Amino acid sequence: MINLSQRGRAGLEFLGSLQPYSSSKIRQIAKKDFNNDSDGKLMTESHQDQFTLKNWVSKIKAYKKVAHRSLAYRHERFYQRYVAEENFVRAIPAIEEKRDEAEKIVHISHKDCGGSLELDQDIKIPEYYEGVEWHLEPGGWDGYDLAGPMFMSGIGKYVFSRGGFAAVEVGDDIRNQRVRVTSHLPKENYNCIYEMGCGGATTLAACHKNYPEAKLIGSDLSPSLLKAGHNVAKAMQIPIHFKQRDARKTGEPDETVDAVVMYALLHEMPVSVCIESIKEAFRILKPGGDIIINDPPPFSAVDPFQAVILDWDTENRGEPFFSETCSMEWDKVLNDIGFINTKSFSLGKKGYPWVDIGTKPL
Ligand SMILES: C[S@@+](CC[C@H](N)C(=O)[O-])C[C@H]1O[C@@H](n2cnc3c(N)ncnc32)[C@H](O)[C@@H]1O
Repeated sequence: MINLSQRGRAGLEFLGSLQPYSSSKIRQIAKKDFNNDSDGKLMTESHQDQFTLKNWVSKIKAYKKVAHRSLAYRHERFYQRYVAEENFVRAIPAIEEKRDEAEKIVHISHKDCGGSLELDQDIKIPEYYEGVEWHLEPGGWDGYDLAGPMFMSGIGKYVFSRGGFAAVEVGDDIRNQRVRVTSHLPKENYNCIYEMGCGGATTLAACHKNYPEAKLIGSDLSPSLLKAGHNVAKAMQIPIHFKQRDARKTGEPDETVDAVVMYALLHEMPVSVCIESIKEAFRILKPGGDIIINDPPPFSAVDPFQAVILDWDTENRGEPFFSETCSMEWDKVLNDIGFINTKSFSLGKKGYPWVDIGTKPL
């Protein structure tokens, strides 16, 4: 961990205070305004609608129109966007001041513990992925060489850890959520767990905590995230096998893994890609193997005001597929693909973390 300068730290701490304040105090007023509005009241009372890929745009548009009538809502969203942009405006210079230290962290070589890293120079990066500045991060996942330290010692530590952004509620601990979610895999033990779209090592480390005997494989498109994950895994002495793969085409043989994890992956892919990836998970799972998915809740599981809050990220926080994936109910997709014993539930008060589970039949 790098100690930022006083200016760097304080600038981020301010954002880490503003965001939860806005998402709790101001958002409560905005929600009250929505529910006191005669149209909003009707929408909330009759909200048992089914959402589909075809109808979500018009439904959310109507909800949004009501939300926008509230000054508190507009205020709250102004702060959300301000923090989302300012995170990088402040964190990059704060890390640049400590570049030497940060580079050492990125390049340090930890003792080998049996994991591996396989990058694929020829991988075809999908069109939907290229050029997207996810979460407004300049250059996207691979745009900044010091992104790891920037999150670890800056944005993650001072802003994200306080919650209150996207589907994450104020006070939610996004690391611990990964431990809680993966503990819901149905069996006590797993021999091999495969995470699609693993990014780095965070969710796989949570799997290791819950299933210390399991062999862990993680794949992702981003070489930077995989390299950082490999280094972090070695620092934690957790043997993880990282591979650069598209979730739709893992290259794993049929029926070779015991569990597949998709954590915060689906909302970063178009629905058609999500469905292909779930089919790929079905293919590589052994009969009797389990899948667990964590993502924002479906629109149909939250009230109209919360649906507006979730939808906002699509156009305002570098999350082009957030809404289309929230229009889906993934347990139904799991059933269609052939999974059985499917269930979905929320571990939080407002629908997040939302979990879907299924088992490949014997
Ligand atoms: C929000 S991050 C979640 C990372 C990780 N699962 C975690 O829990 O921290 C989403 C990840 O999905 C990856 N991703 C997006 N499309 C993908 C695809 N088609 N195949 C593999 N990874 C993909 C991104 O590169 C990114 O690392």
